[in-house]
Amino acid sequence: MKALVTGGAGFIGSHIVDRLLEEGYDVRILDNLDARVHPKGKPPWISKDAEFIEGDVRDKETLASAMDGVEVVFHQAAYQDYMPDFSIFLHVNSVSAALIHEIILEGRRSSGKGKKAPGSQVRKVIVASSQAVYGEGQYRCGNPKCRAYNAVIQPQTRSDGQLHEGRWGLFCPECSGPMEYVKLSEQYHNPYNAYAISKLAEEMSAVRLGRLHGIPSVALRYSIVQGPRQSLYNQYSGICRIFCMRLLNGLPPVIYEDGLQKRDYTHIKDVVEANMVVMKDSRADYEVFNVGSGLEITVREYAGLLTRKLGKNIEPMIPGEYRVGDNRNSVSDISKLKGLGWKPRHGLEHIFDDYITWIHNQGDIGKYFEEAEKAMRQQGVVRKIGGNQKC
Ligand SMILES: NC(=O)c1ccc[n+]([C@@H]2O[C@H](COP(=O)([O-])OP(=O)(O)OC[C@H]3O[C@@H](n4cnc5c(N)ncnc54)[C@H](O)[C@@H]3O)[C@@H](O)[C@H]2O)c1
Ligand SMILES: [Zn+2]
Repeated sequence: MKALVTGGAGFIGSHIVDRLLEEGYDVRILDNLDARVHPKGKPPWISKDAEFIEGDVRDKETLASAMDGVEVVFHQAAYQDYMPDFSIFLHVNSVSAALIHEIILEGRRSSGKGKKAPGSQVRKVIVASSQAVYGEGQYRCGNPKCRAYNAVIQPQTRSDGQLHEGRWGLFCPECSGPMEYVKLSEQYHNPYNAYAISKLAEEMSAVRLGRLHGIPSVALRYSIVQGPRQSLYNQYSGICRIFCMRLLNGLPPVIYEDGLQKRDYTHIKDVVEANMVVMKDSRADYEVFNVGSGLEITVREYAGLLTRKLGKNIEPMIPGEYRVGDNRNSVSDISKLKGLGWKPRHGLEHIFDDYITWIHNQGDIGKYFEEAEKAMRQQGVVRKIGGNQKC
């Protein structure tokens, strides 16, 4: 069986490639070696046993030739992060997913006796979506006197004005009381930035166009994925990289807001396994699944655990800063995917062990860390409560 992994030079894609090779698949990679992800060019971890095509998923001809003879597509290539070029997100992430389905349909239509056009043999498409599609997530008002009592509410992103006052929580639109978050469930979405919007469009292009045209497709909404080979630059690696860098330099981790915001970290091995499970199980077809740890951890707890792992005795700093665009809580409900027999097997300890080994092998990454911090401050993404000054 032949598999195509777009973005197969990247973090998640390359681990999927390795697993497929282990399972005996013929594997082809399509990756444009985006310079932001691969500043040193083609990464050393790309297996020699996989066929590598350097090319762009936005280019229909390249994509079609990469799909020639392929039976399963893992679409991992993506444009990520907080960038102002909105159209590129949609183009790289969503248009490419539509193109994959377009090529399959055209391939099926133009295949005849003895002729198998590119795309015509594809039996399944799995796209990488993201927890980001939930935006600020889902909440409930616990006030029995409120008209919205117990209803699921999907709040708008918190306003700068609210954050400026150091009010971090989410408040009921009816009674203005504090609301309680509930775990993110697949039936919802509430994206508000370009990345999240493009990921929702990507998964819909896959699952809905797939259903309409009988192309079995699945979308996996990953939580924050961690493990070796993870980009040192994207938003997902942010907290671990920055905390690690500061701690290794003897500096305290800087925690935004009050540090009680909840997150969900998942190990790369569990994500690869999720891809394998949905590839093999037809009950997954045309469905969307969360892939996460199912466990919530606050940023404070995370900093404490990492500090202990690194053997440091340093207290984190909570200077009353916040980042515009951050969500308060993001923890996925993973019961749907568990229903297919998958479950997370690797916890935070394992994530930290792997990450620390990985970061130690990356040479001098202090430079990247400084650049990222500087860029965030210059863009005014990091702000301070109370004052009117960007810091
Ligand atoms: N890392 C996470 O925590 C996380 C969380 C949620 C969702 N995701 C999604 O998982 C997928 C994989 O993420 P990752 O962390 O491995 O990212 P990554 O940046 O390590 O890998 C992405 C790969 O895609 C390639 N790429 C980018 N633009 C391309 C283009 N136009 N044409 C061809 N290749 C292109 C890059 O060169 C890179 O090798 C993405 O779709 C991402 O949105 C990741
Ligand atoms: Zn209320």
